[in-house]
Parts: sequence; structure tokens; C-alpha cells
Amino acid sequence: MPFPKDFLWGGATSAMQCEGAFDQDGRGLSTCDMETTGTRTNPRQYHEVLQENVYYPSHTAIDHYNQYKEDIALFAELGFKVYRMSMSWSRIFPDATGIPNEAGLQHYDDVFDELNKYNIQPLITITHGDTPLWIVEKGGWLNRDVIDDYMNYVTTIFTRYKNKVKYWITFNEINGVELSMIHSGGTQKNDPQSKATVSYHQFVAAAKAVLKGHEIDPENHVGMMLGGYFLSYPNSCDPDDAMSDMIFKNRSLFYCDVMCLGYYPKHMINLYASEGIVLPWVEGDKEILMKGKADFMSYSYYYTMVIGKKTEALRTNRASFDTGYRNPYLELSDWGWAIDPVGLRYTLNVFMNRYHMPIFVAENGLGAKDVLCDDGSVHDLYRRYYFKRHVEEMKKAIEIDGVDLFGYTTWSCIDSVSASTGEMSKRYGFIYVDVDDQGNGSFKRYKKDSFKWYKKCIASNGEDIE
Ligand code: BG6
Repeated sequence: MPFPKDFLWGGATSAMQCEGAFDQDGRGLSTCDMETTGTRTNPRQYHEVLQENVYYPSHTAIDHYNQYKEDIALFAELGFKVYRMSMSWSRIFPDATGIPNEAGLQHYDDVFDELNKYNIQPLITITHGDTPLWIVEKGGWLNRDVIDDYMNYVTTIFTRYKNKVKYWITFNEINGVELSMIHSGGTQKNDPQSKATVSYHQFVAAAKAVLKGHEIDPENHVGMMLGGYFLSYPNSCDPDDAMSDMIFKNRSLFYCDVMCLGYYPKHMINLYASEGIVLPWVEGDKEILMKGKADFMSYSYYYTMVIGKKTEALRTNRASFDTGYRNPYLELSDWGWAIDPVGLRYTLNVFMNRYHMPIFVAENGLGAKDVLCDDGSVHDLYRRYYFKRHVEEMKKAIEIDGVDLFGYTTWSCIDSVSASTGEMSKRYGFIYVDVDDQGNGSFKRYKKDSFKWYKKCIASNGEDIE
């Protein structure tokens, strides 16, 4: 059997996209609460102050906060071994006092107990794109003091859930600063120096969290996660294109290098120097980065890109969603993302060869326009086909290439608010949630056809995937 017998099959969500209940039980505001709904071509707007008569999708999302029991029962029916979810920092620390909100802590106790009832292992993303507004007010991650706030948060949750959680991810998509500084960095500053400073502070915070996690419970596995928008092929066999692709990869993978190898690679030090960027080194940080290397690496995988000498990504030497080249060998999703199952195996190999550590695929899925039929069915054959092909490639990565892959959580196992567009209509789940882009609907849950397929896949440990 290619998949190890204790392989962690499951699904993933995030608090900002699922929980809703934005002002329930003492939760404070976070950056995700300030964003409107957009579309693929019309970006979401970030409001510094909430406005009347504007719909903010995270405020209700899919109401997972109140309906978690029903949702977890469905995950159990799917046969999940693991549920990757994030905790809302502003639910636990609603304000700058440093005193945790007991109601918030109790909520996650209840969720973990419910998961435990079904033998589902929680995998907790400590922060997933939702920075509390009180952190924003102090300058976000540009301010080194935020490392202490983060440590207060992680120490609180590592201690509280010591007997309930063993798997943690310090930051969702640590390279998220390349896409949204406000959500990942808690600041609206977008210049290269600010991005470098924010990342630096987050690297130190993550390394400290790894050390703290081990100190509180040696059985903790504290991992890192990369956003998979770096995965690329050269546009041609022109050596210049191959070089562009390699430079792009090195630039994107540097986030993993720091967290998995424990130091900044020389090419980044050189790049920063050439751009006049200064890293805010403090004595002792180098040792912290080296000692606090991640226990495992994980990433989100949705699509690959094509890199050539003329691309924007190369010109700015920074990761970008769209490099302007279309891969003629790949189909696009309804939202224009290139579907590439082989790329999953390819990237698993890239990570194995570079980091030699256990790997977890933390997100993979297809955002599509699903149709709910009158009888409550959703015929999403395209999703089943998408997952089948990705599972096949993971299988090859384990069986043929020898990748140490220990788990896979699909995104998002239940429909949720899209992070990039704020739409509900960009649906990823095996479970359909009856809510539209303006928050109207019954919030009822329906099993899609793909539900049955994933259940079969998990029950057979990835063998029966037709
Ligand atoms: C990942 C994020 O980058 O992509 C998720 O971690 C997000 O939060 C997922 O939902 C899919 O992106 P989108 O924009 O389609 O929701």
C-alpha cells in the first residue's frame, strides 16, 4: 500500500472563512472582518472602519462557530483522520490587555472534544490571515513587540490544549505577505522593506513558537506552511527562461529555507543588500532561527505557473499569482487557476530534495460554480476527477519517489468564503452550504456527489479512487 496505514486524510478550513459569529462571546475585530465581497476581476475592499449597509462576508461566513457539531459529524462520516482548522486570535485575545477571553478558549475546547469523540486529530493553524485590529493599531508585524503578543497567544493555547492538540502550523502561508500585507502582516504598508521586516519578525516568532511548543509538550509537532503560488515551469528550454524560473523558485522558497534550514540563504541577503533593504537583526535571533526549525513543512497546492525571461514576476523578482504566461498543456478552473496534478508530485519532490523532512499537503482543491438541484443533490463530477488525479500523483510521489508525505487536507472540505474574492460562489467543499455571495440562504448543509467519493478514498486508504 503506497499510503502509510496511519496517513492523515482530512480536510481544511480557516476561522476567517468559516466561523462567522464575528462579535459573539467577546470576540474582537480582526482584519478579515473589514473586507467586502469582490469578484475575480473586481478586488475586495478593505475598510478601516465598518460601514453601515455593507456586507462583510466573514461576519456570518457559514456559521461554523455555531454549527460545528453538525459539520464535524459530517467530517466523521467522511472518515477524516485529521481536521485542519485555524483559531481566531481575536477570539482568544480580543484586545491589547493580554488577558485571554475564557469564552473563546472554551469554544475551542468544545470543538476539540467533539473531534476527539470521532477520533479526528486536530491540526491547528495558529494564525490564518486574520490579524487582530489591536495588533494593526500598533503597526502590525512591523513592530517587534508583536512577537511577544504572538508568544503570549501561543503559550496560552499550547498550555490550554496540551492534551488535545499535537499538530500545529505557526502561520498559514508564511509568504502571504507577497499577496496581502494587511491580512498576513497587519499593516497596509506594501513596500519591499516593510515586507522584509514583517517576514523577519514572523520567522523569529515561528522559531520561538517551535521551541515553546516542545518545551510545553515534547509530543508537539510544530510545522511551517508555504503558500503554493511559487510553483513554476520555465516557459521554454531557452537557458534564460530556465534561469528565470530558477531565480523565481529560489526567491519563493526562501521562506521555507529560513524556517526549515534555519538561516537566510545567501542569494536573499544579496538581493536585500542590492535593494537597500535592512533586516532588523537583534543579537540572539540567528541562534533562535537555527534552533527553532520547523518539525515539518506543509504547503497549499492549487496550480502552477509559467516563468520566462519577460515575466513580471522576474522583473520585480517577487512572487505573483499571474506571471502572464498561459501553460498550453493545462486546463483552467472557473477562476482561471491552471489545474496541474503532475505539478503536485513535482513539487513534493522539490521539497523532499531540498529539506529532507516530513511533508504535509495542507490545502488542495477546486473552486468551482456548483449547482444545488431541487432534490438537494450537487453533481460535481469535475471535483471528483480533480481529486482523483491529485491523489494518484501523491501516490506516485510516495511509492516511486520516496517522499515522506504524512497527510493531506483538502481545501475547503465544506464550502466557505473565498479568501481572494470573498465570494461564496467559489465553492470548494464536499459539503454544499446554502449561502450566497450576499449572505442570503438557509445555511443548510448538503452532501455533494464528491462526498461519497472522498469517503471511499479515505476508507480504502487511497486505493479505491475511481
Ligand atoms: C489559500 C488560503 O491560499 O488558498 C485559503 O490559505 C484560501 O485561505 C485558498 O481560501 C483558496 O483561495 P481562494 O481565494 O479561492 O479562497
